Amino acid sequence: MEPTSRIIVALDFDNRRAAEEVVDRLGAECRFYKVGLELLTAAGPDLIEHLVAKGKEVFLDLKLFEIPNSVAGAVRVAGSLGVSMVTVHSMGGTGIMSAAVAAARDFLGLRVLALTVVTSMTRSDLADIGVAGATSTEEQVLRLARLAEGAGCHGVVASPQEAEPLRGVLGAGALIVTPGVALPGASSGEHARSGTPRCAVSAGATHVVVGRAVTRAADPVAALRLVRADLEP
Ligand code: C5P
Repeated sequence: MEPTSRIIVALDFDNRRAAEEVVDRLGAECRFYKVGLELLTAAGPDLIEHLVAKGKEVFLDLKLFEIPNSVAGAVRVAGSLGVSMVTVHSMGGTGIMSAAVAAARDFLGLRVLALTVVTSMTRSDLADIGVAGATSTEEQVLRLARLAEGAGCHGVVASPQEAEPLRGVLGAGALIVTPGVALPGASSGEHARSGTPRCAVSAGATHVVVGRAVTRAADPVAALRLVRADLEP
């Protein structure tokens, strides 16, 4: 896969104008955008259709966790808007993931990604909600990823650090989309290095999501080019 196809820019804005400004500035440099709950709530589905009409791919990060019937309905609407990726919480179980996958089948190219354990959760948070069986968050991430694959999901969203163990348990065709990547050279710390786009992809990620490091940069095109250069072979 060529670098540009792997890069997803997150449009985390509270208004359409700001999002469109970034899309216009990036122009042909960016082909894939993530729209989350903030921008969707602010701008509505028209913006999604607008991006698709401009030839962009859209990852609609709905983070669905609902009864299967409602999940299926939301996935169908996302599909009819022309989005390429939609997210569902694997903690909701097989029923809602299978419902999402079944609904997505009617839309060519619509892939369902599962969220496992959100990165802000610790082992103690897992214990608080009754997930006491997991010896570590990684074990829980892998367990949920296997469940998601069994339900037919096309891949998972995971941190760069989780990409390698996930690649070990998921099928070769599974998508691993990693947010939380740092711009190369942004920090000399070990953590930042392990989270560069190149490290994420060499660990097994298929796509990287980058947000503020590009969208809030003084020169978003230059920042995006840094990400792309990091992914060049
Ligand atoms: O931090 P940044 O602005 O690059 O975040 C871009 C996107 O990545 C956000 O929309 C957020 O949903 C996601 N993210 C995440 N986990 C992290 C960091 C970011 O899911 N640890």
